[in-house]
Amino acid sequence: QIIITNGCLEAVTLSVMELSAPGETVAIFTPCYSGLLLSLHNLGRNILEIPCASDGPDMSVLENLMAEQAFKVLILSAIAYNPLGFNLSVEVKQRIAALAHQYQSPLIEDDAYGELAYHGQPNSPIVSYASRQTDQKKSAPIIYCGSFSKALTTGFRVGWLATHGNISPFIKRKLSINLTSSQPPQVGLADYLYSEGYRAHINRLRGVLEREINCLSEAVLRHFPTGTQLGQVRGGMFVWVKLPENLESMDLYQAALAHNISLSPGEVFSMAGMATHCIRLSASHPWSDEREAAVVVLGKLTEGLLRAR
Ligand SMILES: Cc1ncc(COP(=O)(O)O)c(C=O)c1O
Repeated sequence: QIIITNGCLEAVTLSVMELSAPGETVAIFTPCYSGLLLSLHNLGRNILEIPCASDGPDMSVLENLMAEQAFKVLILSAIAYNPLGFNLSVEVKQRIAALAHQYQSPLIEDDAYGELAYHGQPNSPIVSYASRQTDQKKSAPIIYCGSFSKALTTGFRVGWLATHGNISPFIKRKLSINLTSSQPPQVGLADYLYSEGYRAHINRLRGVLEREINCLSEAVLRHFPTGTQLGQVRGGMFVWVKLPENLESMDLYQAALAHNISLSPGEVFSMAGMATHCIRLSASHPWSDEREAAVVVLGKLTEGLLRAR
């Protein structure tokens, strides 16, 4: 069963409202995109941040937290994770689905970037493994949320919330907030989805993004000082960079701003201050000499911060 929402964040927010109450604990992967952190903060939920390495969470930590019932619901993304860019392996996704079933631990799967795994990467969401291997009547809910914001454009504000369980409580939540979602963009999108154009666009976009990310990653490795670390990006449009010698990302952010260069400081990806030495760079614009020059400036600014220590 599915309802159309105003983007993915509304679908996730409605799910959080339905599956937890103010003051209860909601778990997320960290670093985590800031929109979700703000939404959880506004909803008055306690936020439990589960640290992720460049290839995903530590599964034994996740299992222990589920076994201890340390949270009411877990929000997670398996594909082209924003900001780390990992894709969880099929084995890990199967394991998470199985653990959720074993511990009756509800999941909210945010699949906003689900179409943006690079070619050859696994791209089925966790929910697809749950539906195959569990008895629906006994299983904990997995609420599957997504949108066309990343694959097409944020401006459509067309997303969805899907569940194998009862959708009525989610419809009531949606009605109480803003009744329904605007129909004209849905009609236009439906036509496009039935054409061959959408699939062709996604296939092209995956290749384009991978090339842009490679250009950006190589430029960072060329121009940033030794000790800078990058993860391997498997999907999406972001590169996550760990600065050398635990430099503060806010210092680089401020210095970059003075040169008209925009980056996302690690501060905004964790309420618990777990990402202060990292930055996120975006590859959502075509690679160009101007962008290379900006990376050169960032590298020099980083060197300057190291020297000023
Ligand atoms: C992981 C993730 N989920 C959801 C969203 C929000 O999606 P939408 O614009 O469809 O609400 C974002 C936006 O940056 C995101 O990064």
